[in-house]
Amino acid sequence: MTDDVVQAQYEAHPYPARDPRDEAKRLITGSPSHILELNHYVFAGRRDFRKPFRALVAGGGTGDGAIMLAQQLADIESPGEVVYVDISTAARRVAEARAKARKLANVQFHTMALVDVASLGAFDYIDCCGVLHHLDDPAAGLRSLASALAPGGGMGLMVYGELGRTGVYPTQDLLRLIGRGLDDADKLGLARRLTGALPSTNWLARNPFIRDWIAGGDAGLVDLLLHSRDRAYRVPELAALVGSAGLRIAQLIEPAGYDPINYVTDPKLKKRFETLDVVERWAAAELLAGNMAKHVAYVVKADAPESVAALDAPDAVPAWRDLDSDAFAKSHRRGEPLRAAIDGAAFRFALPPLASAMATRIDGRRSLGDIHRDLMKSNPGLDWAAFVAQYAALHRALNAVGKLYLNRPPV
Ligand SMILES: C[S@@+](CC[C@H](N)C(=O)[O-])C[C@H]1O[C@@H](n2cnc3c(N)ncnc32)[C@H](O)[C@@H]1O
Repeated sequence: MTDDVVQAQYEAHPYPARDPRDEAKRLITGSPSHILELNHYVFAGRRDFRKPFRALVAGGGTGDGAIMLAQQLADIESPGEVVYVDISTAARRVAEARAKARKLANVQFHTMALVDVASLGAFDYIDCCGVLHHLDDPAAGLRSLASALAPGGGMGLMVYGELGRTGVYPTQDLLRLIGRGLDDADKLGLARRLTGALPSTNWLARNPFIRDWIAGGDAGLVDLLLHSRDRAYRVPELAALVGSAGLRIAQLIEPAGYDPINYVTDPKLKKRFETLDVVERWAAAELLAGNMAKHVAYVVKADAPESVAALDAPDAVPAWRDLDSDAFAKSHRRGEPLRAAIDGAAFRFALPPLASAMATRIDGRRSLGDIHRDLMKSNPGLDWAAFVAQYAALHRALNAVGKLYLNRPPV
């Protein structure tokens, strides 16, 4: 099958369905490519966005990733720019209208296949979200993107996860069987009828992790059940795909979900999980949890130095993502653990005694050194090592659920 069929689908159903007028009401944020997250996992938190920065959004669709990143760069008055590429002109029109509604002058738009991005120059960061699994040759697509990476650059990818999509592919097969000979509008009608009539034994009907996609509009239903080409990955297959392009996975998102020890309390099981290497551990978490319908991965060149921000110096600046720190501090004053739910899985992390006091001081500007000095006023015995031990516990928990990142200088 050529790209034409996929292109025709996204011309008819730009995805996801978005109304540019909604830009006046809200900014859609997510993963990959939130500025704090990409800095933390690709640039060890050290990217200086006051300097030039080129990001490519490959297969940008109706613009979610491109608009989020362009707005975040504009908000910090970065000279950074976002280059959007997609084969669908209908999707591009929506994305362009969204940029216009926000008066964003830092996004360029191209109608182009992602294998041709070499003509656009080198990029510090590449977003490719929900696209590789629709390509005829995902490895060739990823190699094209990898060859467009500037030295020290990295990517944020999203591909479908196999286990979390349990029931999707048999339903696609069924629709192909009963929809033979129908036109696209009739196939869509058939898909609606079918999703409303699935017996309770059907795996799609039993799968709680893709309900939103079924409940969404036409574009969502087409993307889920009538797609002309899609496949899903388990973690080892994703690691092999990434490796085939000379890249490696720096981290899968959210980290809490990809660590099997977070799902069990039995110490013997935990010990066995701890014998695994990092990719095996992510794979074990996927097999154990069974709920991952998408894998979001930050990837860097295979030979790149450690790209994940580390707690190695007092100049690191912690920053919240979408967290009300005062509310958090209030509700964790008495040593309450952190409880979070991700895709239906519940996590519980113990927090250190100074969690609340630290939380109220984290503002995206103060460094760990500043926070330590401030806390010493009320805790004179708190030396740097003791402070870091407590901060590390807070950081591990909140970073694992996508709420806390490190950067320097501040973003
Ligand atoms: C599922 S949508 C994802 C859109 C967007 N990245 C997001 O996450 O919201 C996939 C997009 O990839 C585009 N696409 C598919 N094959 C492509 C190719 N070979 N080159 C460029 N874009 C492609 C489609 O037109 C579509 O807009």
